[in-house]
Amino acid sequence: MDRKKITIAQPKGKLGVLIPGMGAVTTTFLAGLESIRRGLYPAYGSLTQMGHIRLGRRDENRQPLIKDIVPLASLSDIVCTGWDIFPDDCYEAAKHAGVLTPEQLDPVKDFLADIHPMKAVFDRRYVKKLDGPNVKTGSTWWDKHLQLQDDIEKFAAANKVSRMVMIWCGSTEVYMEPSAVHQTIEAFEAGLKSNDEHIAPSMVYAYTAIKNSIPYINGSPHLCTDMPALTELAREKGVPIAGKDYKTGQTLMKTMIAPGLKARMLGIDGWFSTNLLGNRDGEVLADPGSFKSKEVSKLSVLDTILQPDLYPDLYANIHHMVRINYYPPRGDDKEGWDNIDIFGWMGRKMQIKINFLCRDSILAAPVVLDLVLFADLAARAGMPAIQEWLSFYFKSPMTAASVYPEHDLFIQLTKLKNTLRYIIGEELITHLGIEYYNYFD
Ligand SMILES: NC(=O)c1ccc[n+]([C@@H]2O[C@H](COP(=O)([O-])OP(=O)(O)OC[C@H]3O[C@@H](n4cnc5c(N)ncnc54)[C@H](O)[C@@H]3O)[C@@H](O)[C@H]2O)c1
Repeated sequence: MDRKKITIAQPKGKLGVLIPGMGAVTTTFLAGLESIRRGLYPAYGSLTQMGHIRLGRRDENRQPLIKDIVPLASLSDIVCTGWDIFPDDCYEAAKHAGVLTPEQLDPVKDFLADIHPMKAVFDRRYVKKLDGPNVKTGSTWWDKHLQLQDDIEKFAAANKVSRMVMIWCGSTEVYMEPSAVHQTIEAFEAGLKSNDEHIAPSMVYAYTAIKNSIPYINGSPHLCTDMPALTELAREKGVPIAGKDYKTGQTLMKTMIAPGLKARMLGIDGWFSTNLLGNRDGEVLADPGSFKSKEVSKLSVLDTILQPDLYPDLYANIHHMVRINYYPPRGDDKEGWDNIDIFGWMGRKMQIKINFLCRDSILAAPVVLDLVLFADLAARAGMPAIQEWLSFYFKSPMTAASVYPEHDLFIQLTKLKNTLRYIIGEELITHLGIEYYNYFD
């Protein structure tokens, strides 16, 4: 491969993290970030903090920590702020979310209580199940964009940040297909000024970030930057964007297990996935519009992993169903059930049952940290627009229009690590391995 020398600007100064939506995921992320900084826990679940990367041949035994070899921002340089429709500080919001215990929250209470959400850009048409008082007023999306810009400028000046990343951890908005207003930057900007109904609040945040050269990450399944106008703006401004929908819980399991079944040429008749979820996210997803965004995101993974067109005998007739049941007694302690009907040699049928008692926000928090650090890295390495190498973290990875997304977790990890090797000028690893055997000498 033709290798270009890539210059990565060093991560000097503070990194500002701007978070629309300060509910369960955000407060779990913030409490963990500060606890890790105070030496209370290792950064469990975070590839940037705990992951090693092999460099060179296997017999060289070079396996440094990723963070020791790739110039990532240091955790001590991160400063955070955000927006929410509820004015509660992040300690109150974390207690409400109920993910972490009082024993875990109390040592970082001072830090969390000091973070107060700014007024949100919000409209109930896009998240029907929620309403709150901490909301910006203004007659158009454009007015609200200017207010967001003002919030960001004030935060940047007060904290003397040298660069920023915005990461959406707000609720899932209703399902939308790209329409005329999403096709060009001009149409989109006109739509902001005329208050076009096809523009959702998340798009106003994303536009503001990209316009101000701030990378934008979409942790929810809704459309947001996955449209020509904002992708083009990101390219023009040289800004990384990535999404959509954090890959945690059930889909994480699906993208580990489906590649394994396919690797051994085992057929699948059906995959029924259901979830019991009792937190605010579950309540929002009880609205059919928001659920549709989630369903499309969750359903897409199996098709691309299993390739039924190539393997019709094994996968052409799968019944794939996904259900999310809002069940308040469970709170954030989600329960996911998967029943997989498979078949093997001579068509004999078998079943796999998975009962994953997971905590979504515990799985999402390290994903938020890694995405922030990698998006900042991509910006400093001069990688604009879609970051397909971050597919590892998403249920519906954004890709170039010409390619299908890779959903297989292990292909995604290889892609991510090879991208890191590529940008730091190391050899890519193919896992071929014949160099150790001299077969053809
Ligand atoms: N928890 C996970 O593992 C996981 C996985 C994948 C995706 N997600 C997505 O991440 C998002 C956050 O999940 P959560 O569990 O923290 O939900 P949550 O309901 O606890 O928090 C979302 C917060 O966003 C706020 N909000 C809604 N619209 C907003 C707006 N326009 N501006 C500012 N704030 C707004 C809500 O008031 C709420 O406090 C959801 O969209 C969810 O689907 C979560």
